[in-house]
Amino acid sequence: MEPICFSDNPLFNGWGAPMRAETAIEGLEIIQGAIPEGLEGTLYRNGPDWQYPSGRDDDIFIDGEGMIHMFRFDQGQVSYRSRWVRTERFALQEQARRALFGRYRNRYTNAPEARNAHMGTANTTAMFHAGRLYALKEDDHPYELNPDTLDTIGRTDMDGQITSTCFTAHPKVDPVSRELLGFAYQAKDDGSRDIVYYLFDGEGRKVNEIWFEMPYAACVHDFAVTDEWIVFPFFPLITDMDAVKAGGPFFQWHPDRQTHIALVPRYGDASGICWFSGPASSAGHMLNAVRDGDKVHLDVVLYEGNCFPFFPMPDGTSTPTPPPFLTRLTCDLAGDDTGFSKNRLLDICCEMPRTDDRYQGRPYRHGFAILYQSRDGSSSVGRIDVHDGMVDIWSPGPGDMVQESQFVPRAPDAAEGDGWLLVPVSRVSQNRSDLVILDAGNLAAGPVATIRLPVRVRATFHGTWVPAEARA
Ligand SMILES: [Fe+2]
Repeated sequence: MEPICFSDNPLFNGWGAPMRAETAIEGLEIIQGAIPEGLEGTLYRNGPDWQYPSGRDDDIFIDGEGMIHMFRFDQGQVSYRSRWVRTERFALQEQARRALFGRYRNRYTNAPEARNAHMGTANTTAMFHAGRLYALKEDDHPYELNPDTLDTIGRTDMDGQITSTCFTAHPKVDPVSRELLGFAYQAKDDGSRDIVYYLFDGEGRKVNEIWFEMPYAACVHDFAVTDEWIVFPFFPLITDMDAVKAGGPFFQWHPDRQTHIALVPRYGDASGICWFSGPASSAGHMLNAVRDGDKVHLDVVLYEGNCFPFFPMPDGTSTPTPPPFLTRLTCDLAGDDTGFSKNRLLDICCEMPRTDDRYQGRPYRHGFAILYQSRDGSSSVGRIDVHDGMVDIWSPGPGDMVQESQFVPRAPDAAEGDGWLLVPVSRVSQNRSDLVILDAGNLAAGPVATIRLPVRVRATFHGTWVPAEARA
């Protein structure tokens, strides 16, 4: 057996050093404040970790096997647990005791015994719907997990209802209607232009499914919804299977192609799809979408260029990553203009935007995001008023970073944004983590509670909150 040794690549060092440990801590230490009365439930977070060194020099930070994290709030105490998601590829590598999967999403670079395996790492987010917990990655089916132990139950097509080869890692679970809205892109095979939108009712039964074709084999990491429309942006990060088969990157940046937006009727069919377009740009994450008369606004963290420097142009050239700004793209259904307009909402760089999820697709005012305004590598969390551009900010301190935040309403009928913001904090300076609880209406006041972890929550992308009563 080869010895396990990660390279000196910055990806595997410092805060990014592989953790590779499953942890269980009953009753974390609360080093400041107290857990607010009534905050009862579970915060699930998901992110990648490195199971084995690949020995390659083209690893990227969004790859790696899914590590699911759970913070359970129960009567004033918080317990923590982390577990690998035991995907098909995790099990194959565990058995082989080495990495078998090659370049990101490129099965042609896998070891022969993994050439035909399912590729999903289940490393992007956690989804809870109709009493079930799932770990998601957009190039594979969901993996169902036990919501109490985090044991992997298995890969699932959700009782035969997912007819595509994969399912998004950015579903929307509507806390008001209890509907689940999702999609799959490159939905019949790698490199295909097929995309499908799915709508499930509160019991997890599929009630709508709309297939259509993308303008090109795009990367569709996220989407947005309104009460009437599903909003799909297509940015020119495009899969060329000839390049993939030659061992190249799964996506390539095409600045000469346009950005397109498809508005798909939430309860209709493909005959009602409306198309809009504009100059090349890209984005990973949507904050929200909202209908305003005949207009549909898409609020997105927009890069006026390529957001992924590790996906080069077809000639192999990498382009610099432009700064990300929260931007409103507007499609006007009443006019003859099929171009979308663009309006910046905030002049501070940001990423990982979230809302009070009860307001997804509905008229709203508040967004929460990671803000990047420091030169020392630290980041802050901000509440952004999308009406007037005002921001309320909390910073964890020099060198420390925040991860994506999670809003929890104070009560089910609380006003928009009235509640708590749960923020994983990377205490880089101490090589460990905190989870802080902020008053979502007054971030600048600082945490109402700080929960100390003696370990490092290495990296998590996205997650979800499940109130205690939803688990019962
Ligand atoms: Fe994402």
